[in-house]
Amino acid sequence: MKKIFAGVAFLLSTGFMQAHAAGNIAAGEAATKKYACASCHGADFHTPIDPSYPKLAGQPQDYLQHALIAYQRGSDGPNGRSNAIMGGQAKALSHQEVQDIAAYLHSLPTTLVLRK
Ligand code: HEC
Repeated sequence: MKKIFAGVAFLLSTGFMQAHAAGNIAAGEAATKKYACASCHGADFHTPIDPSYPKLAGQPQDYLQHALIAYQRGSDGPNGRSNAIMGGQAKALSHQEVQDIAAYLHSLPTTLVLRK
């Protein structure tokens, strides 16, 4: 949960949605099926199998993309994010898949709210 708030704070401080990344929603859906992301994050990506797993549906596209790239970097580089589970998941993804998945997850319905 702390990480979700950190992510939102990061977005607000860097100018929300300023550089909207390209991504193909249909290709992103296919990629999440290929890698079985829903097996942990839930079929609708809003009801994860464990309450400690993050809800991905409707999160800002730029943030999702940033999070996946941070897992690819691991904790070695700047802006890296180290996690035993997601590190392995993210490293399998191409840069195009990261962009497509972020577009797809962002497009899904959510009850998460970003207060302005
Ligand atoms: C084996 C279970 C599992 C699978 C499979 C899995 N994830 Fe995750 N995912 C997690 C967990 C646990 C976290 C939280 C890790 C942390 O604390 O950094 C997470 C975090 C994330 C985050 C960061 C969310 C945030 O709010 O910061 C993204 C994005 C994400 N996963 C996307 C994916 C994608 C895309 C796939 C498929 C390629 C995938 N996950 C597959 C368990 C999984």
